[in-house]
Amino acid sequence: MLEDLSQHVLDIAENSTAADASDVTVEIDEDERADRLTMIVEDNGRGMSPDFLSRVADPFTTTRTTRRVGMGIPFLKQSAELCGGAFSIRSAQGAGTRIEAVFAFSSIDRPPLGDIPATIMTLFMGHPEINWKYVHRVNGSEFSLSTEELAEVLEDRELLRTAEVGLWIRDLIAESLAELRGRDTTLDFLDDKDL
Ligand SMILES: Nc1ncnc2c1ncn2[C@@H]1O[C@H](COP(=O)(O)OP(=O)(O)OP(=O)(O)O)[C@@H](O)[C@H]1O
Ligand SMILES: [Mg+2]
Repeated sequence: MLEDLSQHVLDIAENSTAADASDVTVEIDEDERADRLTMIVEDNGRGMSPDFLSRVADPFTTTRTTRRVGMGIPFLKQSAELCGGAFSIRSAQGAGTRIEAVFAFSSIDRPPLGDIPATIMTLFMGHPEINWKYVHRVNGSEFSLSTEELAEVLEDRELLRTAEVGLWIRDLIAESLAELRGRDTTLDFLDDKDL
């Protein structure tokens, strides 16, 4: 599978926006001790009927009319199962949807994380009206960021659409993840020297 995890996050979270969710949570949990990488997207959108839910992981199911094959969910399921992980989806009409994919962290078939900071920036900027919550854990340490807390700092929520704020969000996430990984990016220049 060519996709990386961040592309799956984008696909699955875009489904939540298309389902008219007002609240969407994106959770990523990297747990090397348990050898697990978990991705969860949960929304309060329109949900799916039991019948549709039973078919949605099948690549020939979609409500799109422009294209018959919806691939976001089947791709994620296949990608997780390919590396000995698991996929589950819960959905209730009028209540919302929760999609969870677990990957074996050390599997050579596991998709790389990809550019998570840019992905979260894209989601926040693209749909600033949604209450996004992003939670990312690395071996037990956690970073989280929500559009609600950003709106409070910015005062005007529409500023979330501006490139300046978008790039600031992306950098904040990248730096925070580097910190969770126990690496200070401000010291990166030292790598170039023989210290
Ligand atoms: N969070 C959700 N809430 C409600 N319905 C959903 C949600 N996610 C997916 N669906 C429904 O399941 C269908 C399949 O989703 P999937 O992402 O697999 O393909 P798609 O969005 O139709 O097309 P693609 O992602 O390939 O552009 C969607 O068309 C939509 O009807
Ligand atoms: Mg989709």
